[in-house]
Amino acid sequence: MDSTPRIGILTVSDRASRNEYEDKGGPAIQDWLTRTIKGSWEAVGRVIPDEEALIEAVLRELCDREGCCLVVTTGGTGPAPRDVTPEATEKVCSKMLPGFGEQMRAVSLAHVPTAILSRQTAGIRGQSLIINLPGKPSAIAECLHAVFPAVPYCIDLIGGPYLETRPDFCAAFRPATAARR
Ligand code: MTE
Repeated sequence: MDSTPRIGILTVSDRASRNEYEDKGGPAIQDWLTRTIKGSWEAVGRVIPDEEALIEAVLRELCDREGCCLVVTTGGTGPAPRDVTPEATEKVCSKMLPGFGEQMRAVSLAHVPTAILSRQTAGIRGQSLIINLPGKPSAIAECLHAVFPAVPYCIDLIGGPYLETRPDFCAAFRPATAARR
């Protein structure tokens, strides 16, 4: 069996999905993860419009069929009528982790006052962690830096692969009692 960890990168944007502009969020997530994660991993990318049922279906596909231990979304977290990524995330998750959104908003508020407009969150579906990021490409590194130290241990706790990071870039934190694998 191939045990290379797989990570879903989901861009939710009407305009990027119609090729009206280039998707910059998905590649920014992939670059950040490439710099952070030690060892091999495989990206599974998708670009879709802001349709709630479709977002739910693609999240299920990335978690259940593609076997992604982590799915990072970008876009659709704001207050506009078509921003429905957090709703879709809640629908497919069995457990929400509100601390992720709280931490990302806290860090982003140091950069822009409009960070309070983002409803980004995170949750667990089976053995997958889903994290919402805002759509602004500049928000991606800020938000990932804010929460990623806790991501490898979260994935341990839900039975996923043992992810290691490059500590000089973003040090993963595991409690001293955590089992090494
Ligand atoms: N967070 C960071 N770090 N940087 C930003 O520029 N933009 C905000 C917010 N969070 C922003 C941010 C704005 S203007 C909005 S409307 C919300 O994210 C939601 O963006 P989204 O709907 O594209 O996800």
